[in-house]
This record gives sequence, C-alpha cells and structure tokens, in this order.
Amino acid sequence: MESDCTVPETWTPESWKAFEARHLPHYEDAAALAEVERTLSTYPPLVFAGEARALKAELAEVARGRGFLLQGGDCAESFAEFHPNNIRDTFRVILQMAVVMTFASKRPVVKVGRMAGQFAKPRSSPTETIGDVTLPSYLGDNINGIEFDPEARRNDPQRMVRAYSQAAATLNLLRAFAGGGYANLRQVHQWTLDFMGRTPWTEKFSEMADRIGEALDFMEACGVDPETVPQLKGTSFYTSHEALLLPYEQAMTRRDSLTGAWYATSAHMLWIGDRTRFPGSAHVEFARGIGNPLGMKCGPSLEPDVLLRLLDTLNPAREPGRITLISRFGHDKVEEGLSRLVRAVQREGHPVVWSCDPMHGNVVKSESGFKTRPFDRILKEVKGFFAVHRAEGSHPGGIHIEMTGQDVTECVGGAVAITEERLGDRYHTHCDPRLNAEQSLELAFLVAEMLNAAAAGRESELSADAA
Ligand code: PEP
Ligand code: CO
Repeated sequence: MESDCTVPETWTPESWKAFEARHLPHYEDAAALAEVERTLSTYPPLVFAGEARALKAELAEVARGRGFLLQGGDCAESFAEFHPNNIRDTFRVILQMAVVMTFASKRPVVKVGRMAGQFAKPRSSPTETIGDVTLPSYLGDNINGIEFDPEARRNDPQRMVRAYSQAAATLNLLRAFAGGGYANLRQVHQWTLDFMGRTPWTEKFSEMADRIGEALDFMEACGVDPETVPQLKGTSFYTSHEALLLPYEQAMTRRDSLTGAWYATSAHMLWIGDRTRFPGSAHVEFARGIGNPLGMKCGPSLEPDVLLRLLDTLNPAREPGRITLISRFGHDKVEEGLSRLVRAVQREGHPVVWSCDPMHGNVVKSESGFKTRPFDRILKEVKGFFAVHRAEGSHPGGIHIEMTGQDVTECVGGAVAITEERLGDRYHTHCDPRLNAEQSLELAFLVAEMLNAAAAGRESELSADAA
C-alpha cells in the first residue's frame, strides 16, 4: 500500500465545494455538467506527476537564488486562435527571451508557458452592456463564447471537453518542439539575429547578441555543440494556467501511483488569481491538496499577515519550489506594496520564488476605447520589482507576462512604438492586451540588463566575502 501521508488531512479533490467559490460559472443543466465531469475524469492526464515534481525542483533552485523563471503566453487562449503557427511563434519568442536572459544572468531560466489550458477568466463585472442590451460577461472559451449574443454567452459544460482537446494538442506540439530539435540553441540565437536584422531599434542590444554568438562559437570550437551535447538540442518547457474552473480541475486531478499524492494533471503548474486568493476561498482549498508547484497572484489588496496565513495553508512543510508569488501591483505601487510583502515573508522564513507580473496592474483605457498597457509602465514595474529585491536582499526570481509571438497591436509603446491610433490594426486578444513578439524580445533585453547588474552585484559580494 502506498503511503498517502502527503495528502493533507480533510482534503479531497472535491473538498473545495464546502468553501466560498468566487468567479465560478453557474450551469443551468446540472446533469450535463456531471456528465462532462465524468467524461473528463476518464480521459488521459495531460501531464505526469513526475514532470510537476521536476518543475518544482527547478523552481526550488530559483527560490534559492540560483535561477530565473520566465512565464508567458496568452491572457486567454481561444478556440478561434488555435493554430500551429500561433503555438510555434509564442514558443519561439519565449525561447529567444530565455536565451538572452540565461546569458545575462549566468543562471538557468525555467520556461513555463501560459499555454495549453489557459482558458477561464475572472471578470470584474458579471455582465456586459452594449447599447441597451445587457448579457452575461464572456468568461473564457472553456465556459462561454465571446460573441455578444445570448446563445454564445450561455455557460456550456461541453466547452470543457473541447478545451481539453485543444490543450492536449497544444501540449503535444510543444513537447515535439521542445524535444525534437526545433529548440536547438544555435537555431534560437539565429532567429534572434534575423529578427534584429529586420528591426531598427535593436542596435543598442546588438552587442549582447554578438557576445551570445561568440560564446556559441567558442563552445563549438571546443566540441560543445548540439551534436555532441544533447542538452543544446532540446529544452525543458512546462505549462501553466490559472486554476479557476474548479469542476474541470477536479476532474483532471488524479492520485499519483508512485507517491500516493494528488496532482492536477491539467498542467505542470497552476496559479491562484488575485480575485480568488482570499482565506476561506474554494480555490485555495483546492490548491492546498495538489502536489503541483503553485503560483499565487499578489495585488495591492493583499495584506502581509493574510499572505503569511495563505502560505501556511498552501505550503505548511515550507517546501522550496512549491510557491511562486507573482506580484502585480502597478508601476506606481510596486515599490511600497511589494516591500511590505517581501519583509513579512523574509521574516517568517517562507521559501518562495518572487516573480513579477508587470501586466495586470498597468491596464489603461485608450481614447479609442481599447484596453491597453503602456510599455513604459510595464518596464517601470519590472524595474521597481528589481529595486525592491535589491533593497531587501531577496532574489528577483522571475517575470510573468501576457505575450504572443504574433505581430499584434495591443500594448502601446516599445521601441517600434505602437501608437494609440494603431491599436485597432491587429487587436486580437480574447481578454487583456499582450506584448507582441518585438515588444517581448525588447523586454527580454531590458530584463537581461537588470539581471546582468544583479549578477555583477552577486560577484562583487562574493569577492568582498573572499577578501
Ligand atoms: C491573469 O493572469 O490573466 C489575471 C486575471 O491576473 P490577476 O489574477 O492577477 O488579475
Ligand atoms: Co490577463
């Protein structure tokens, strides 16, 4: 008999039902919902528990200050944008960003996509009004449809089955790219060079790109190349999404035959959103019992003592790699708000990965009515994040961004400045505005400069210790 000592007392995959669940859809047809849950619970898991543990081990290294987490992808995946080219392009940009950051930080970068399952959205208002028509809000393609008509906006449990299939196919392609030779390091760098050759803004980063190229040439001359070292041919890539739609997550939760522990098998990492991370929340209850690495969004309304209680609930054993705190304060609130949380967590000695989501606190409405995010505010929040960690002596452990490999016009600014007037050109997101490929890569170079400075700081501390 396997031991199940890792399962917290009183927890079951459905114990969340006795807690307060915000942002869950109401389904009119309870029998149809039950049928879908039964169906999903017989489907193959999308990930294996051992993979979730491998990610947790990589994140534990980040928590110890020996790595950096890059988490990115769509705000909301959609059935309409499901296309191999979209998956490929987002994957490619994440890899390009990771190479630049690895080089600058001289530490491994853990790559996690907001992909293959990021469908459900918490919304600020339960309804949307256009003219004199009011309908339920769009909640994500696994719940209802984005079209503004009553039939589309009806919550339909069958959508979960379609989302599962899309997640399975997406993950299958990501696994093939990651392991099949597409993610070859030399190739990834070549994409970056091609890309930089096509854009005028990149001059200021060409020196770093040249140095990466030289490092690869040097390694090759020493016989270290993708043919001789398989690690250069492939990469590890993980998936994540917000664990919002609990009926789906519960149906995908399975007991690991090796350890007896429960794992959500819908993705490697799941996170709890800013609107559902309150004490007593059904989402917190669900998350506490699964063995996966967990993220938790931390916004301005989170008080340090509440955060500490949540950490005790979610990580009573204080396992490094278990918790990633994803702060999302806004460019003007990050320094004060984040410092308070960092101090409390340091004082209590909770091992966490600190990651910065510079997207969700920086949404503004453009004059033309589009929701957008100014690139300079995104950058300012990341700078503030690094400044806080420098001041508090903690490790700036990652970034969490909404981005796509497509050439969309959703966030304003960046070196090839997307202007407010151009937002309507290619505004495709199903929810929040994303950085496009160019803006993502520019951000990666700017974060690389910050990582480089942090690495230089580490080295000078080491030499001061040695002296
Ligand atoms: C999100 O990540 O898409 C999201 C809704 O974020 P938050 O919970 O931080 O608002
Ligand atoms: Co979002």
